Amino acid sequence: MTPAIIDGKYHLSYTRIHETVRSMAEEIRASGFTPDVIVAIGSGGFIPARILRTFLEKPILTVGIAYYDAENRPSKTPRMIQWIDEVEQKLRGRRILLVDEVDDSRVTLEYCLRELLRHGPAEIAVAVLHNKRKEKRGALPSEIRRYWAGEELEDRWICYPWDALDIERHERLSRGEG
Ligand code: G4P
Ligand code: MG
Repeated sequence: MTPAIIDGKYHLSYTRIHETVRSMAEEIRASGFTPDVIVAIGSGGFIPARILRTFLEKPILTVGIAYYDAENRPSKTPRMIQWIDEVEQKLRGRRILLVDEVDDSRVTLEYCLRELLRHGPAEIAVAVLHNKRKEKRGALPSEIRRYWAGEELEDRWICYPWDALDIERHERLSRGEG
C-alpha cells in the first residue's frame, strides 16, 4: 500500500516507519550480512537507526551531514556538522551498516560512503527507509555491494513524523484523513 499523498506530499506514520524498518531488518538478516556497527547519518538517519538497533542489536555511531545551510538554503556540496574522529579506529576492518532516512539525490550518501571507505572498513552496506525513484546526481561507490531500501517511492516530498510540529495532525494525514 502506498503511503497517503496529501497536497502532493507523502505522509508517513511512526507505526509505518517501524514496520518498514522491521521488514528491512529481516531482509538484512536473511542476506547473511551481520554488521559490527550501525552508522547513522544525522539527523534524518537517527530515528531509523535507533529502530533498526531494536532488531539488529548493534551499537550506533553517528555522523552529521547537512545539505542545507543555516538559513535552510540548499548548498552546492554537503557539509560536515559532526564527524567521527576519535572513533575512526572503530571502523577499520569492521562491517558497517550506513543508515539514512531517504535516498534522494544520493549526493549526501555518496559523500558519506567515500569518507567512510577511507577508514578501511571490511565492508559497508547501506540501508535507507525510502528510495525515491529518480535520476540520481550521486552514485554508490563500486565497493558498495549491498543496498536496502525499505520502500521505493515516487519523487515527491516525504513528511516524516519527527518533523511534525503537530503530531496528531500528521498522524491523521498519514491515515489519509485530510
Ligand atoms: P541523499 O544523498 O540521501 O539522497 O540526500 P540528499 O543530499 O539528496 O538530501 C539532502 C537533504 O534533503 C537531506 O537532509 C535529506 O534528508 C533531505 N531530504 C531529501 N528529500 C527529502 C524528503 O522527501 N523529505 C524530507 N523530510 N527530507 C528530504 P539533510 O540536509 O542531510 O538534513 P537532515 O534533515 O537529515 O538533518
Ligand atoms: Mg538526512
